[in-house]
Amino acid sequence: MKILAFESTCDETAAAVVEDGRRVLSDIVASQADMHALYGGVVPEIASRKHVEVIAALAEQALAQADCTRAGIDAVAASYAPGLIGAVLVGLSFAKSVAFGLGVPLIPVHHVRGHIAANYIAFPDLEPPFLTLAISGGNTLIVDVRDYTDMEILGSTRDDAAGECFDKAARVLGLSYPGGKPIDQLAQQSQGGVYALPHAQVDGAPLDMSFSGLKTAVVNLAHHARQVDGELDRAALARDFTQAVSDTLVPRTMEAARRTGRRTIVAAGGVAANSVIRSDLERACEEAGCRLYLPPLSLCGDNGAMIGAQGYYEYLAGNTAGMELNAYATRDISQAAP
Ligand code: KG4
Repeated sequence: MKILAFESTCDETAAAVVEDGRRVLSDIVASQADMHALYGGVVPEIASRKHVEVIAALAEQALAQADCTRAGIDAVAASYAPGLIGAVLVGLSFAKSVAFGLGVPLIPVHHVRGHIAANYIAFPDLEPPFLTLAISGGNTLIVDVRDYTDMEILGSTRDDAAGECFDKAARVLGLSYPGGKPIDQLAQQSQGGVYALPHAQVDGAPLDMSFSGLKTAVVNLAHHARQVDGELDRAALARDFTQAVSDTLVPRTMEAARRTGRRTIVAAGGVAANSVIRSDLERACEEAGCRLYLPPLSLCGDNGAMIGAQGYYEYLAGNTAGMELNAYATRDISQAAP
């Protein structure tokens, strides 16, 4: 079954053709990051407009690269939530029109389910059940993936997402948007251990997380150094900040594995590209005797192939939608599309 898939929840417009959930025939991503870098972060209205400009051409390119005609497409999948509402609407509306025009089913895909499914592309042997640490620009979740479309949230951030925190910290350190990769590179220049940063706990919810205090601490350190013309060891701050994020994410993931008895752990999302988090996860999984799946860097960020992969399993579960399907800025990963 060939699925034409669309992704447009933030600042990447993406289209892909995926066969039977695992074989990527084409995967084209048009990033708007350079445009948003001018403003230090994503400008939602610009994101929507840029999606409109490129999505039709991307669809044609995805078909051509897959050597697939329109008649060869069996279904159309699109992210319907969560994300910047205007941006999500563009991809979803376009997908609806393509599905309607081709007379094929429309499959709504939760964006974070898509991030998890990127691993099905990378690892042909991977099947649920497993535990996922899903960390991206807008989401930070520990999810028990009981089956392809049956998920339970075990822990989540109470405020900022991990990626949002990376982007903000990078900004005050004078790095470009999106800040995750440049902070990762800067952090590699230091052993850290210079700045004492907060590690928040959520009372009564040990698997939940909070990053806003950490973010504010980094912002305050950088601003204070600027105001008093003091020294700021940027590399050490990047390293200590990254370690604080990892120390929040990794032990909770391992605790969730212990509680559920899951022995397979899967990382997902843009922040899963972080080198410190990857090596901390590797070490923790080795110590606990868990099998770890780390997606290749090319599949960590937003892409259309992951939507096509999850779309296949949503289709098998009977989760298709009519033209009345709406886009949602927020939506629980454990819920099927309305
Ligand atoms: O998954 P993604 O591409 O988009 C969303 O679905 O949100 O994630 C983007 C986020 C950005 O916040 C970016 O700074 C972060 O992933 N990111 C990283 C790294 N590479 C990208 N964060 C930390 N370390 C990295 N190497």
